[in-house]
Amino acid sequence: MFNPSTITIERSAYASNLSFIKAHLNGARMCSVVKGNAYGHGLKAFVPMAMEAGVDYFGVYSADEAHALLRSVEDRPDVFVMGMVDDDALDWAVEQGVECCIQDLARLERALVAASRTGRPARMHIEIETGMHRTGFTSKEIPQVISLLREHASEVELVGLFTHFAGAESSVNDDRVGAQIARYASARGRFERSGLIPRYAHQACSAAAMNFPGTIGNMARIGIMQYGFWPNPETWLRYSLLHDTPVDPLRRTISWKSAVMALTDVPVGGMIGYGTSCEALRDMCVAVVPVGYAHGFDRGLSNTGRVLIRGQIARVTGIVNMNAISVDVTDIEGVEKGDEVVLIGHQEEQSISVASFSELSEQLNYGMLTRLPSDIPRLVIDRT
Ligand SMILES: Cc1ncc(COP(=O)(O)O)c(C=O)c1O
Repeated sequence: MFNPSTITIERSAYASNLSFIKAHLNGARMCSVVKGNAYGHGLKAFVPMAMEAGVDYFGVYSADEAHALLRSVEDRPDVFVMGMVDDDALDWAVEQGVECCIQDLARLERALVAASRTGRPARMHIEIETGMHRTGFTSKEIPQVISLLREHASEVELVGLFTHFAGAESSVNDDRVGAQIARYASARGRFERSGLIPRYAHQACSAAAMNFPGTIGNMARIGIMQYGFWPNPETWLRYSLLHDTPVDPLRRTISWKSAVMALTDVPVGGMIGYGTSCEALRDMCVAVVPVGYAHGFDRGLSNTGRVLIRGQIARVTGIVNMNAISVDVTDIEGVEKGDEVVLIGHQEEQSISVASFSELSEQLNYGMLTRLPSDIPRLVIDRT
């Protein structure tokens, strides 16, 4: 193996998540959010697999992600850049028919220039600022946006009118999200009364689709749930109480594996690894696994992380190094160099979830997944 570890994506788990999500979208189109290297799953492996499963619309953050996505597929899906497109990238995006988020007047004007320069309409999603205070047009700016869009109707394809919620996963934010929903409805009314009807009026991410189904409309931007994770435990709890189901319908699609690189005996009293954070309280045997914080195995997992070897849990001993960890295999019989090590996933009866992994290091699923480096090989497999 050239690489110290491999990530696999399970096709059947993805198909199962997709059918669960679609059953809750009431026929709305799903835009599969694949920013952050498909939430760490690997854009190049994930997108063709998702397309085979019937997904034909993808949301990315930036023009370079859109570019990478289009290079990874043969048939062209619809692509929506939800965040950053600078001036040069706008020309490329308009030419390629890539949909872009338009969030301020400078970008709107620049998109109109790109449309007249390339002779193709700019495919726009107008973002409305409704209370997240990040990006989007404020209520005051809307009249100017409307008049520019009407004046340049032939250079514009109004694909979307959208907003993004500031925390639809937690009920503490319900009032804030409720106010966002009302502001969005008002903005949409102003556009529609001016004759500007977007093809998609969209607001919902995973959490909103579950907790505020009224926001789904005719399109939803779904990220984390398609990969098999709830946005947070509260959203799962709300769902399970509402639907009276104790069984989580989502399935993790990702697994991450490595192999034992070396075995070392440590006599009682010996310090393991850098410094003095871990002393052997008995004669021990540690297995060295060639995965460290440079590979996305968080340093916060020092002396707390867990991996699986021979179907048993092995605890991280000592500090997570840049490129390696040591794990305690004293009580695991017969461990040999080359044995499979599961960092995320299951082995025999045991399993390490992303949640347990990220809770131990105080990261969210989102953060932990997107920090998995892009150079770890990704393989799509039918079943783990
Ligand atoms: C604008 C926008 N829409 C949708 C999503 C998808 O969110 P989730 O992964 O929670 O479904 C994101 C993710 O951060 C986003 O920034």
